[in-house]
Amino acid sequence: MIELKTAGQIEKMRAAGRLSKQALELAGSMVREGITTKEIDDAVRKFILSQGGTPSFLGYAGYPASVCLSVNDEVIHGIPGKRVLKNGDIVSVDVGAMVDGWHGDNAWTFAVGEIAPETQKLLDVTRACLDTAISLVKPGVRLGDIGYAIQSLAESHGYGVVREFIGHGIGREMHEGPDVPNYGKPGRGLRLEEGMTIAIEPMINLKGHGVRQLSDGWTVVTASGSVSAHFENTIAVTRDGAEVLTKI
Ligand code: MF3
Ligand code: CO
Repeated sequence: MIELKTAGQIEKMRAAGRLSKQALELAGSMVREGITTKEIDDAVRKFILSQGGTPSFLGYAGYPASVCLSVNDEVIHGIPGKRVLKNGDIVSVDVGAMVDGWHGDNAWTFAVGEIAPETQKLLDVTRACLDTAISLVKPGVRLGDIGYAIQSLAESHGYGVVREFIGHGIGREMHEGPDVPNYGKPGRGLRLEEGMTIAIEPMINLKGHGVRQLSDGWTVVTASGSVSAHFENTIAVTRDGAEVLTKI
């Protein structure tokens, strides 16, 4: 079921989106050589709670942390722990906050120090995939059109679009309908309507689209061992376009 949100509900989602984005920026500001992923998770959890929010991920389906921190070949759902970030790593930070019963969800992939030019290009293109998708959003546009735009841009650079994990509707629940794939066919799929709120989140691998899950039951890594990038915003479909809710 897809719940169309009223103006008042979207106002509440703005608050959740803002806190989610502030949490993401805090995490990004901590990314440096020598820090552990657990230190970032701890700071973000405390920050969200101090602002009167609740970390959306903590306890979700048993997930043990407030942030997903996925390093290099880790695509998503990396569990924070003792891992120490080092120069040349990339780290995807994915975090969501609930405020007054409504969720926000966003992600960004950060560089640790100096990264390889081919890795920087993957980050730039994955971000462009998200921006392109958002620029297409308006009532009447179909989810296949959005997925196709993301997929064609990524594949034009020889990258792989992850199939097993996709974007999603969001609102009172972190995951609601509709599914928002990062691949698709033009003219297919659900038509967007004013009041829909969705998280668009391209996950793009440098080499190959395959992924596998580690034995921790969460961490998803590329099948090829190549690096992977992930950017995500929560957006609302407006009368004539999109509003990014995960912004400050
Ligand atoms: N941000 C992720 C998503 O978009 C959610 C992380 S899953 C969790 O689906 F279980 F870790 F919360
Ligand atoms: Co999401």
